Amino acid sequence: MAPTSTSVLTRRGRLAKDVRRDLEGSQKRLQPKYLYDALGSQLFEAICELPEYRITRAERGLLAAHAGEMGVGLVSPVTLVELGGGSGEKLALLIEPLVQTLRDVSVALVDVSSTAIALATRTLGRYPDLPVTGHETTYEDGLRQAVATRSGDDTILVAFLGSNFGNLDPAEALAFLGRVRSALRAGDRLVLGADLVKPEAELVLSYDDPLGVTAAFNKNLLVRLNRELGANFDLDQFAHRAVWNATASRVEMHLESLCDQTVLLPAANCLVRFTAGESIWTESSYKYNEDGIADMGAAAGFARRDQWVDAEARFAVTVFDAE
Ligand code: TRP
Repeated sequence: MAPTSTSVLTRRGRLAKDVRRDLEGSQKRLQPKYLYDALGSQLFEAICELPEYRITRAERGLLAAHAGEMGVGLVSPVTLVELGGGSGEKLALLIEPLVQTLRDVSVALVDVSSTAIALATRTLGRYPDLPVTGHETTYEDGLRQAVATRSGDDTILVAFLGSNFGNLDPAEALAFLGRVRSALRAGDRLVLGADLVKPEAELVLSYDDPLGVTAAFNKNLLVRLNRELGANFDLDQFAHRAVWNATASRVEMHLESLCDQTVLLPAANCLVRFTAGESIWTESSYKYNEDGIADMGAAAGFARRDQWVDAEARFAVTVFDAE
């Protein structure tokens, strides 16, 4: 069998297995990574252009204004390791002052998506002398690979931007920071983006825009299951819901069944019953406050070096030193 069809089968098999397990529990779920098929990735790009979704613009603004300060004092040679970065546009903002002031800078891109790595590599093509390596793997594995090849006196600057951090639950987030810290040594640095708590109405609007782009993004997951697993989800019988859970400090994204119904997923070998009002939980986006981010970093063995907040969007970029 041709290698491409083998890998397609494997991928579909994994999707089927995950979907079956996650729809069988008492709280039905679907993993957020499955939101990003070709159309889902484009819809997410569209979300980033919505006036109601301010994370991407706010972070870009903070990086454009403060990248110089974020890199100040780093000793050449510097390797910038971006975990789950996407298009590379934000990375370019962060790297600009480094290539201006340091002689020896290189980049390692870590992403499970080869498309994202290819896109970011192309974006960084505007710096012809900048060595770029791609690691198509998980964050921790890729960071380990990037650190393993460092020469004796390299400094590492890790970037974890956008809503990536907010999509981990707090226990995972702390464990993740701990693993990043243990891969680093004194003198290395972490730049961390995190969205902040704000009034409920604003939070809900940023995940449920009036144009319906976010609803389309969430519901596209059902379109994907119809296409890839032969399922028969009726899109009109599900509604996108964004709910602020104040106790857990997170926005929850759900797909709510509007009636009692049964859905067949032949390629996952399952049949799923929904009662009216029952939901599939697709994503959580945790929101922090300024000190909470610094405290988590400290608990993981980092020292807060600096923090910038976009006052309007309430989004923070925090720089930590590995001590
Ligand atoms: N990771 C993004 C975030 O939490 C993803 C996102 C934006 C999202 N809107 C969504 C995920 C709607 C599911 C549904 O900000």
